[in-house]
Amino acid sequence: MQISPNGKNRKYNAVITGVGMYVPEKVLDNKYFESIVDTNDEWIMTRTGIKERRILENGATSTLATEAVKDLLRSRNLSPEEIDVIIVATVTPDMFFPATACLVQDNVGAKNAWGFDISAACSSFLFALRVGSGLIESGLYKKVVVVGADKMSAIVDYTDRNTCILFGDAGSAVLLEPTEDFSYGIQDSILHVDGSGRNSLYMLGGGSMNPSSHETVDKKMHYIYQDGKAVFKVAVVGMANVSYEIMQKNHLCSEDVAYLVPHQANLRIIDATANRMGISRDKVMINIHKFGNTTSATIPLCLTEYYRNGKVKKGDKLVLAAFGAGFTWGSIYLTWGMD
Ligand code: COA
Repeated sequence: MQISPNGKNRKYNAVITGVGMYVPEKVLDNKYFESIVDTNDEWIMTRTGIKERRILENGATSTLATEAVKDLLRSRNLSPEEIDVIIVATVTPDMFFPATACLVQDNVGAKNAWGFDISAACSSFLFALRVGSGLIESGLYKKVVVVGADKMSAIVDYTDRNTCILFGDAGSAVLLEPTEDFSYGIQDSILHVDGSGRNSLYMLGGGSMNPSSHETVDKKMHYIYQDGKAVFKVAVVGMANVSYEIMQKNHLCSEDVAYLVPHQANLRIIDATANRMGISRDKVMINIHKFGNTTSATIPLCLTEYYRNGKVKKGDKLVLAAFGAGFTWGSIYLTWGMD
């Protein structure tokens, strides 16, 4: 039994040993939005940092998730039968039930896996990564796949300029495996929910509070509603503070951190978080300009792209951070374990 850097008595740390991603081909650029709502490229770029986003024309969230997992398996040369658990982080499941994880399990042929979905809005991937790591740390499972996937275009009102420009569709996945070398893997996490923020960002229709009816459809209750200004204020403080707190707690100074890996909702929120941590832009993973806010997929998508571009190396200390509806927010500190 080893004592981890966080003082936890356990044999294993969970480490990311594979990544995968899928983005649909169809691109919606800012010019397109100029043709459907009263907006312009300059407003979108300066207020959000988004230039374009991808939209899935045929298929559902399970399509995005399945392709991401297949990409992961291919890149690691793994057989789907080796997967023990599949966790899908999403706010746009294919349907209420069965869980999207079941569809992904069947699609990829993961015959020996069990799984489930996790819903925590834009913090879904962080929460799922924490839960998946716990399953590895327990010693019960050897290969846990954590997928972040959202088909946001399914719940976006393309007549509402406040929200339609923000979101895109994507799926991305990581593989967690055990390591007895505690210098690698998930080192610490600080996660929060505060349900008193539930009225600032939500989708009201279709649940048990407002079951689907002609009225819920007429009232556009199956679309995202966001009080952007209110969310912005809490997101800036929440994401910046929790990222700073995890650095303090783990005695990390800004030079120790190779990358901040923030949820990609708004470049101004990302900059505020980096400033609070004392981290320069070149040490922040950013792809919001290409994909917009893909909710559960943003963080693994950044990890996959930066790793495959050779920008992350073994031993790099990363701070992951997210904020989302609920409110939900948090930070995970990990040490990269792949060459
Ligand atoms: N094009 C042009 N003008 C727009 C617009 C668009 N697409 N969307 C909104 N506007 C207008 C507003 O109507 C408002 O006009 P008014 O002053 O006449 O009322 C003006 O621009 C400013 O709106 P505001 O909401 O103050 O803009 P903002 O600077 O706060 O940016 C968001 C809006 C949504 C980009 C920003 O609030 C945000 O990113 N919020 C947080 C998102 C988030 O983190 N969500 C959680 C995770 S998903």
